[in-house]
Amino acid sequence: MKSEAEQFEKIPVTFHETSAEACQILAVEVGSLIRQRQAAGKHAVLGLATGSTPVPFYRELIKMHREEGLSFNNVITFNLDEYYGLDQQHRESYFRFMQEQLFEHIDIPEANINIPPGTVSRKEVYQACLDYERRIDAHGGIDIQILGIGRTGHIGFNEPGSTQESPTRMITLDKITREDAARDFLGIKNVPRFAITMGVGTILRAKRIVLMAWGENKAQIVRKAVEEPSTDAISASYLQSHPNAQFLLDRGATSGLTRECQPWLVGSNEWTDSLTRRAVTWLAGKQNKPILKLVDDDYNEHGMADLLTDQGPSYELNIRIFNELQHTISGWPGGKPDAEDGGRPEHAEPYPKHSLVLCPEPGDELLAMGGTINRLIEQGHRVDIGFLTSGNLGVDDESVERFAEVISDLVSAEAVSATAWEETTRFAEQLLLELKEKGPFGDDTETLRTLKSMVRRSEARHALRTCGVANDQVHFLDLPFYENSRYRRFHPSSDDADQLCQLMTKVKPHQIYMTGSASDPSSVSGVCYRLFRDALRASAKYEWPEQCRIWIYRSQEKPLESHEISMAVPMSPDQVKAKIHALAHYNNELTETGVESDFAIARVYDDLGLAEYEAIETFEAFGDFRT
Ligand code: GLP
Repeated sequence: MKSEAEQFEKIPVTFHETSAEACQILAVEVGSLIRQRQAAGKHAVLGLATGSTPVPFYRELIKMHREEGLSFNNVITFNLDEYYGLDQQHRESYFRFMQEQLFEHIDIPEANINIPPGTVSRKEVYQACLDYERRIDAHGGIDIQILGIGRTGHIGFNEPGSTQESPTRMITLDKITREDAARDFLGIKNVPRFAITMGVGTILRAKRIVLMAWGENKAQIVRKAVEEPSTDAISASYLQSHPNAQFLLDRGATSGLTRECQPWLVGSNEWTDSLTRRAVTWLAGKQNKPILKLVDDDYNEHGMADLLTDQGPSYELNIRIFNELQHTISGWPGGKPDAEDGGRPEHAEPYPKHSLVLCPEPGDELLAMGGTINRLIEQGHRVDIGFLTSGNLGVDDESVERFAEVISDLVSAEAVSATAWEETTRFAEQLLLELKEKGPFGDDTETLRTLKSMVRRSEARHALRTCGVANDQVHFLDLPFYENSRYRRFHPSSDDADQLCQLMTKVKPHQIYMTGSASDPSSVSGVCYRLFRDALRASAKYEWPEQCRIWIYRSQEKPLESHEISMAVPMSPDQVKAKIHALAHYNNELTETGVESDFAIARVYDDLGLAEYEAIETFEAFGDFRT
């Protein structure tokens, strides 16, 4: 008989607290398959994936090879996909990715590795795809297929519209997929338009399939694939028809499933304060009613009769939750001086406060809390901003080009004396040459990367100045884990955490704002969040943390939901305009949608029957930081 959760989940889901734990377990399964086959003198056929998701799994396999002597001699691999048009040595080719992340660290024979060919001519594509399928079949099919999931719900590169029977073929990449890859390729215009991918049909022929997903940014697409009817709009949902498919998730990626969001629908509950708040706000949304208009029948009809028995009747429960939410709203994010602060999110004392806003990359501070920074400053607090990374990987070549061209033009327009500017002009010419030599796909030279950091720094300073933050309150840490690497290849060390700890110790904040608590651990914000936890632990020996409150802000992709919010800072229409104006200083595609989630949460509060604001920025209180 199906468990209650399984009535919603159409694919078996296994959940682990962290991706590291999940990968360890999967690696043990794959390791024992390889050993069993070795003992029987047979091959094990693995279907492999790229992207950041499988990287910790590959690390586990490498560890087993090194520490336990697991041999890959009898392993045959088939990769899901490859960008079309990239030669094997291109730094973003999946061929190279697989070499760097797995193959060059294990003893797999080169001849056993199969990756769809990205460089065959158009005329040869059809035949090459057919050959790929035949080769899989000739080896008896794939024993375990590893998958990640893209933001469009794709597996491999099976974009929306792919049919359940689709074979290995060439595909046009979706706009969202190309946007997601833009950072790896240092700009969307460098991202290939086509790829060769195993089809959904090819994948479904594997004997066992494990789809992995980490972090809250995957939560919504995971929910759709697992709980909604299968559709060609989300190719991962086709796994519902497979007899031995499994979703392997961490906490963040599970957070959209009914078992997490509406656990009262899938079994009996302990009605904790946070679950009660979640249930009541959900019910109001479902019934399209403000909280104070919910009646007993609404609760009874939605599996919450026991909540009423526990905490009813409905009007009392409604008022309690309404008041709790009402108390999250505060125009005083640094606390209201001289006011009774029992019902307010932040303490009145000390006043004024030192607030430290930590950001994985420049731009995060404004997107999440441009209005709040403004209020803090207007209310007399000191706000320091700490950028953990330079964000230079997000700056396009054009910015460097523009800088170099302005210098050259100044000289040729005789606006400055050519002799005095001789060296500067040479420098500008050198930059243009370096850009040309590396081409759109090449790695930035050190000078180019430094210059890109400077571009982002200047954008950040200008943007923050419009919010009233002076230059000496803006700290650029340029943490080494980022400077020395590229997206998906980050290896943080204790140096990174030490530098962050030093900044916190210097500022001695009364409040810290930070993000990344439920992000994919391999993303910039996921890495930064772990460093932050390390830095906090290292700071526990000082006095300042005793008075310090920590507020978590979220990314645009997965804003806080009403039941998670501990502080909601409202914004007037003029404050929204000021935020948009400040965001415009960043030459960054994200800024276009910068205030959408602020509008959305204001609408949610309004619909719940709370005050109607133009926009709201939201924060969650952090638990005990010594844990
Ligand atoms: C690309 C790959 C997919 C992968 C997806 C998600 O589109 N072709 O196989 O699942 O990216 O990548 P990530 O794991 O980095 O989130």
